[in-house]
Amino acid sequence: MPTELPLRAPAIVGHGFLLTAALIFAATAFAQQPASAPAAPALAAPWQPQIHFSSPPNWINDPNGPVLLNGQYHLFFQLNPFADQWGHMSWGHAVSPDLVHWKQLPVALAEEKGIAIFSGSTVVDADNTSGLCADPGQKTPACMVAIYTGASQDKQTQNIAFSRDGGATWTKYSVNPVIDHGLKDFRDPKVFWHALSQSWVMVVSLPDQHKLRFYRSHNLRQWELASEFGPAGAVSGVWECPDLFELPIYDEQDKLVATRWLLNVNINPGGPAGGSADQYFIGQFDGSRFIEDHPGSGPHWVDWGNDFYASTSFSNLPSSEDRTWIGWMSNWKYASKLPSLPGRGEMTLARHLYLREPPAYPPPTPAQEPLLLVQEPVLGLPVDKRYLAMFGAPAFQTVAKANERISAKKLSGSVYRLRFTLDPGDASEAGIRLRRSSINPDDPATEETVVGVDLATGRIFVDRTRSGKTDWSSDFPARVTAPLKHSQTEGIPIEIVVDNNSIEVFGEDGETVLTNLIYPAASSQGLAFYSTATPPGTAPARVRDIELIPLGQARTRK
Ligand code: FRU
Repeated sequence: MPTELPLRAPAIVGHGFLLTAALIFAATAFAQQPASAPAAPALAAPWQPQIHFSSPPNWINDPNGPVLLNGQYHLFFQLNPFADQWGHMSWGHAVSPDLVHWKQLPVALAEEKGIAIFSGSTVVDADNTSGLCADPGQKTPACMVAIYTGASQDKQTQNIAFSRDGGATWTKYSVNPVIDHGLKDFRDPKVFWHALSQSWVMVVSLPDQHKLRFYRSHNLRQWELASEFGPAGAVSGVWECPDLFELPIYDEQDKLVATRWLLNVNINPGGPAGGSADQYFIGQFDGSRFIEDHPGSGPHWVDWGNDFYASTSFSNLPSSEDRTWIGWMSNWKYASKLPSLPGRGEMTLARHLYLREPPAYPPPTPAQEPLLLVQEPVLGLPVDKRYLAMFGAPAFQTVAKANERISAKKLSGSVYRLRFTLDPGDASEAGIRLRRSSINPDDPATEETVVGVDLATGRIFVDRTRSGKTDWSSDFPARVTAPLKHSQTEGIPIEIVVDNNSIEVFGEDGETVLTNLIYPAASSQGLAFYSTATPPGTAPARVRDIELIPLGQARTRK
């Protein structure tokens, strides 16, 4: 059980009075600034992400073994060191001080003798439980052990490798594999230290059986089977990249009330938007067995967009830091055809995680999970506030008034965080159009991505059918939707993080998330609120607390 503060610390840019005052001051300063953030230096391609990790000119997929060690976040990932298509899977390596600015390092674990290095995890073995971290009786606090799937033509096994120098150099264990059942599909081990039972626990997938297996070990080398979970939830595709961790539950007053375990498993295909997606189960874990709280209540989707897959959480975070995970921002249904950045594949933003009790009314139906998973994007703040634009706070204003401000301030951009609270009133649909080919909100646009709320269905949506280059896969142009979880009386808080080729939407304070790639023209930087017309005498759509922060140049450097 965590021993930290009973109250959830406010987000870095929150609604505290002092902070609001600072933001208003910054907003005033904004008026004297150029219309938009300074032009980015010329990029190789208009879609190269600025605040997301990618590895041009190569192919990448799943994040692997993210871990914090000595103040540095390490990210390993599925990499083809030779090409921009999947193959020769190895673990690439990057480090970051803040989860946004990444520096790429040499390959950590390379394919060897026909055995590819598939997904897995990393732990810090500070006590040398493995005996691999130092000579007997010695310790190497900066020792990492990676647990990964070795994949050959005929079977997949679990293997380990260690690094005694904080991740700089790696040695594969000479007695690999550490688990071998001769199975063709058996992959993606996630290992963590379970303090109560004083043992390492591994959760690993039997993809085509829609089952997860739990193993236990005292030395990371010898493993014994403890239990299995599944099939359960969504089972129409293979199960991959599981994770298991304990999360705090906060009530509506931000008070810590309890904890629960979240068992996560990615599924491909069969997601809510088609193709790859991520589902979770909530329950109890005693070190050997996971018991779901509400069997049959799912599937519970982590993200309703097209492009969130293979999520995995950081190990070795201090208990004062929220559980944090990161995903691959793509979908196997078209990943090999993505327009080149150059290179293919990138990560989502890292996201902090916790659970929230739902509002008391309406009470959840038996089929609903009574706890909500909250995801908050990690932006590596402080951001450059010189260009912050904030208006419409705290009073609601009409869509037309908000657009007047956008027009007057000539607000535009392609890499920013935008937050606002939307009250759709009696409009059947309302929201915002982003990455528009027209800068003036009142002009029609040939290209735009729409984030909106459809009141008839009670759903939030992202429509990328006119988002730019969409013709490279018939699966790409799409409108994806997610059910809203709250009544809309107070307005719907919406946070959107836009990068050169993506839109991550965190609706309802991170309870309803949609992640999508887009390929707009570099010049498509306009934004405009919109709503369908409301008859006279009815309530128009309104917005308040509008805050736009351009995000700086964080492009990955090799
Ligand atoms: C998920 C996945 C994993 C596997 C890896 C191979 O995207 O299929 O199951 O380990 O990719 O690159």
